[in-house]
Amino acid sequence: GTLAGVVEYRNVTFAYPGAESPVLSNISFTAQPGQTIAIIGSTGSGKTSLLSLLPRLYDPAEGEVLLDGVPVSRMDRADITRRVALVPQRPYLFSGTIEHNLRFGKTDATDQELWEALQVAQGDEFVRAKKNGLGSRISQGGTNVSGGQRQRLCIARALVSRPRVYLFDDSFSALDVATDARLRAALKGITADATVIIVAQRISTITEADQILVLDNGRIVDRGTHQELLETSPTYQEIVES
Ligand code: GTP
Ligand code: MG
Repeated sequence: GTLAGVVEYRNVTFAYPGAESPVLSNISFTAQPGQTIAIIGSTGSGKTSLLSLLPRLYDPAEGEVLLDGVPVSRMDRADITRRVALVPQRPYLFSGTIEHNLRFGKTDATDQELWEALQVAQGDEFVRAKKNGLGSRISQGGTNVSGGQRQRLCIARALVSRPRVYLFDDSFSALDVATDARLRAALKGITADATVIIVAQRISTITEADQILVLDNGRIVDRGTHQELLETSPTYQEIVES
């Protein structure tokens, strides 16, 4: 159907406003519903920039980003927001209650939906342990919760909005390996029909991805499954060994 969640980047080149050289060059890939696409590459290689083009935080200089075959440049921002959830690298919380933070973007979610999302995001225990539970207050910028807790709340917020496409920008690296593994196992069920694009640092986070894109200096230098890349990609091997 038209709300499937197919993501396509077609020959995308992008430079930040005022910058001389592009940070992304000729990026092309397709992500289908039910698939997990992972993006890996050294710091500054352009991973965050790549994700930012789908929700139109920026628009490419050349090429096109399409959602279900329609260029996002021709879509309503509200329409994109309904269908795409970005969990940013620096997760942001609003001053207000945990409940308020989780319902952002889907105000009619039930309490049960909030708890389910928290459970998947491995955040239910710490919220339950708070005296006021979902009604606990978050200070401006979320400074009264830890970095890992903030990340889990932002993941839960994305889950509550039930998007067709999830973008996780380095959302798992602040978690310990065991929590990361539990979270991703729980995510599988809830995101089974969705399109998932994960930027990761830890190889164990992405070994099961349907496709891994290896980004280097704004270009996709290699792509394939974990096993394929182990055999064919020196850049990937370097990342694995680091
Ligand atoms: P890590 O998150 O550190 O792993 O890096 P990344 O792969 O996400 O790289 P990112 O997309 O953030 O940055 C790619 C390049 O764009 C780098 O050279 C950054 O310095 C540059 N860059 C990132 N954000 C901005 C911005 O807002 N303005 C400008 N002018 N340059 C930016
Ligand atoms: Mg980044």
